[in-house]
Amino acid sequence: MEKWTSYYIEKMAEVNRGFPVPPKALVMTYGCQMNARDSEKLAGMLVEMGFDMTEDEDAADLVIFNTCCVRENAENRLYGNLGNFKVRKEQNRNLKLVLCGCMMQQDMVVEKIKTSYPYVDVIFGTFNIYRFPQLLHTSMETKGMIVDIWQEAPEIVEDLPSLREYPFKAGVNIMYGCDNFCTFCIVPYVRGRERSRRPEDILAEVEALAKDGVREIMLLGQNVNSYAGDISFAELLHKVSEVEGIARIRFMSSHPKDMTDDVIEAIRDLPKVCNYLHLPFQAGSDKLLHDMNRKHTKKWYLDLIDKVKAEIPNISLTTDIMVGFPGETEEDFEDTLDVVRHGRFASAFTFIYSRRLGTPADHMEDQVCESVVKDRFNRLLDEVNRITGELSAEKLGQVLEVLVEGVGKDGLLHGRADDNSLVHFAGGSELAGQLVDVKIIEAKTFYLTGEIV
Ligand code: SAM
Ligand code: SF4
Ligand code: F3S
Repeated sequence: MEKWTSYYIEKMAEVNRGFPVPPKALVMTYGCQMNARDSEKLAGMLVEMGFDMTEDEDAADLVIFNTCCVRENAENRLYGNLGNFKVRKEQNRNLKLVLCGCMMQQDMVVEKIKTSYPYVDVIFGTFNIYRFPQLLHTSMETKGMIVDIWQEAPEIVEDLPSLREYPFKAGVNIMYGCDNFCTFCIVPYVRGRERSRRPEDILAEVEALAKDGVREIMLLGQNVNSYAGDISFAELLHKVSEVEGIARIRFMSSHPKDMTDDVIEAIRDLPKVCNYLHLPFQAGSDKLLHDMNRKHTKKWYLDLIDKVKAEIPNISLTTDIMVGFPGETEEDFEDTLDVVRHGRFASAFTFIYSRRLGTPADHMEDQVCESVVKDRFNRLLDEVNRITGELSAEKLGQVLEVLVEGVGKDGLLHGRADDNSLVHFAGGSELAGQLVDVKIIEAKTFYLTGEIV
C-alpha cells in the first residue's frame, strides 16, 4: 500500500477513536463489476479508518456514492439519490457525503455538483481511490468541498485493504482501463488506458484469498482477453488454476476480437475454469459494427461462437446487446435478432443506446427516434427471453454443482452453478460457501429450482 494511504488511514482512525461509538459508513455502488470491486476497497479503507459499515441510509455518518456514467439513467439515479440526501445533510451537519467513480471524471459533472449540490464534501475520481483517506482527513479539517480528480493513473497501487461482499467468492482485477474506444462508450475516457497488473501480484492476491476461504474467483477487466502482463491471458488462467483451494474461476468481460484459441482451450481443458463465457456482440449488422468500431463482423462473431461451442459443447454463452445505435435501420436490427437466434445465449444484458457527451457516436447523424427504439428493444427482449427459457428448460432433471450463496427472501438457499445459472433449493444456511450437487426439478426463465442430492 502507498505510504500516504496507510499514514492517513491511521490519522483517520485516531480521529474516529475520539468518538464514544464508531461512526457508521455506507457505500452506494452504481455500475459494473469494476465499481463493485472499487467499493470493496473503499469499504476496506473505511473499516481500517475505524468506521462501522451500515446498510441503513438514516444511520450513516458518511455516505460514499461510487458512480457510473455508462448510460444516462445511471447518472440520473445518482442525482435523484443525492437530492434525497440534502434534507439529511441539513438535519445532521456532521454527515459526510463523498462522490467518486466514473461520473466524476467528467468536468461538466463536477461543475454541476459544485453548483447544484454544494453540500457534497469530497469528490475524487477513478484514478486516485487510494487517496480517499487523505482527502477525507483534509475535509475533516477544512470547510468547503474538496475536489481531487486526476486525468490518468500514474501507477497501479497494490494491497489496498478490502471488505468482500461474500466470504467465499471474490473479484480480482487483472487489468484496468480500456483501449478499444467503441464509438458509443464513455469507459475509455473515464477509466483511462489499459494497464495490466503483474501476474505475480494477481497470483499473490488469489493465494491470499484462497487461504481466507475463497472458493470462486472472478478475474475482472473491461477486456480481460487483451491482458498484457508478461504472460498471456490463457497462461494466467493456467497459473490461477494451480492455486490450491480455489474451486472455480470465471472472468469478464471478453472482447470477441481478442478471443484467441488458447483461451478457448483453457476453458475446455482446465476443470476449475467455468464453462461460462460472456462475449458481448452489441449489434449484428456489419455497418453498425463498423460504425461502433467493434473491429469484427457478424460472420466473424458467428464463426467464433460456433468454434467455441464445438470445442466446449456445454458452454454457457452470455452477451451484451444494444439497440438504437445511430443509423440503425429495421434491416440492421434484424441482423441483431439473427445473431440472437443463432447464438442462443443463456442470457443477455440488453441496453438502449444512450448518447454520451464526448463520444464519437454522439456526433453521428440519424439518432434513432425513441418510439422505434422502444419497439425494437421489446422485440429483442422477447427473443432473448424466449431462448433463455428454452435453455433453462433443457436443464430439467440435470444435476448441477452449485456454490451456495445464502438464504433468500423465499427461505430457500440460492447459488450459482458452474454455467452461472441461478438455482434455488431447500437446505440449511450452514451450507453457504459450499459446493453442493442439486437436481433440477423446475425451470423458470431466470432461475431453476432443485433439491440437494
Ligand atoms: N468492456 C465490455 C465489452 O465491451 O464487452 C463492456 C463494458 S460496458 C461497461 C457494458 C455494456 O454497456 C457494453 O457491452 C454495452 O453494451 C453497454 N454500453 C456501453 N456504452 C453504452 C451506451 N452509450 N449506451 C448504452 N449501452 C452502453
Ligand atoms: Fe466500452 Fe468498448 Fe471498452 Fe467495452 S470494449 S469498455 S464497450 S470501449
Ligand atoms: Fe459504469 Fe464505469 Fe463500469 S462507467 S459500467 S462503472 S467502468
